[in-house]
Amino acid sequence: MLTIETGGRRASTLERLAAAPVRPGEDGIDWRTPIDRSRWFFCETLTPLYYTKVYRDLGTEHKLRYNQLTAMMANEIIAFMETEFLVAALTAVQSCDGNRRMAPDLHAAVLRFRDDERRHADIWQNLNRLSEPEWYASVNRRLMNIPRGALMAARLIARRPVAFPVVFWIQLAQEERSLEISRRCMRVSPEMMEPRYATAYGAHLPDEARHVQIDRHLIDYFYRPRSIAVRQASALLFRMIVGTLLVTPVHSTGRVVRVLAAEYPELAPLVPQMLRQLRELGSSVGYHEMMYSRRSTPVTFALFDEFPEFHQMRAVLRAYEPKPAWSRVK
Ligand SMILES: [Fe+2]
Ligand SMILES: [Fe+2]
Repeated sequence: MLTIETGGRRASTLERLAAAPVRPGEDGIDWRTPIDRSRWFFCETLTPLYYTKVYRDLGTEHKLRYNQLTAMMANEIIAFMETEFLVAALTAVQSCDGNRRMAPDLHAAVLRFRDDERRHADIWQNLNRLSEPEWYASVNRRLMNIPRGALMAARLIARRPVAFPVVFWIQLAQEERSLEISRRCMRVSPEMMEPRYATAYGAHLPDEARHVQIDRHLIDYFYRPRSIAVRQASALLFRMIVGTLLVTPVHSTGRVVRVLAAEYPELAPLVPQMLRQLRELGSSVGYHEMMYSRRSTPVTFALFDEFPEFHQMRAVLRAYEPKPAWSRVK
């Protein structure tokens, strides 16, 4: 049976997380002025090709366009996660509340979390429509290239978070990644960054910091009390998802590279090399440090340490090495 601690300290933290004011900045984005194509949309160090040798052979105009395409791809993926994964999971969490007596403060925090994600998804989709009005006039996705079976599985498990508590780990890892994306983009000089993108990342950052805290509470509530068999199965599933879909830049980044070469035909001879070097990033320490590491995803890694069934994440995440219990900071 699932239980929940109701200590006064934790309750007040959740109340604060649920009651944080909605900042007006997001609604203040100028959606009318055409996009500035001379600026970057993303931090260069977040783009996978940056970690390959072939990136040094690209011209400035190629790097700029690759940067913009990668940001649009990220917008598609984040909006997909927010609308079809997180909102579905959070709605399911709420509806199972009746039998499980979820504490009112956690319930309020989940409601607020879901509303935030709907609002965020609108912003990413608006950014893409502003960036490529023709591409996104009738569809929301042009660059995201996740295998159909994986999309269907993601939708299925998101609707059943109690049966598949791996949902909360996917949620935590992806939200901590989103937080790192905002952090890095906020460090790019304002003269280089497209101002609407800069505003969106700035607005997303504090919300995602709150969501990561709520994700920890959801893991405490829905995952921690489960049997060892359920926990081991969840850890195995998570390892497969991270290893095949989340960490290696193959599917969507491959499509971005092909779109880039279609726009700049002089790059066509380099495409096989780019795709090969992208696949090889699975063993790149620098790339893994950026994606998932104690610096970029500290909460996720600290929770891996706490649950022995997640220590095997080192098999797919090069930057993860479990910390011995005695060295963990409480
Ligand atoms: Fe979000
Ligand atoms: Fe979030």
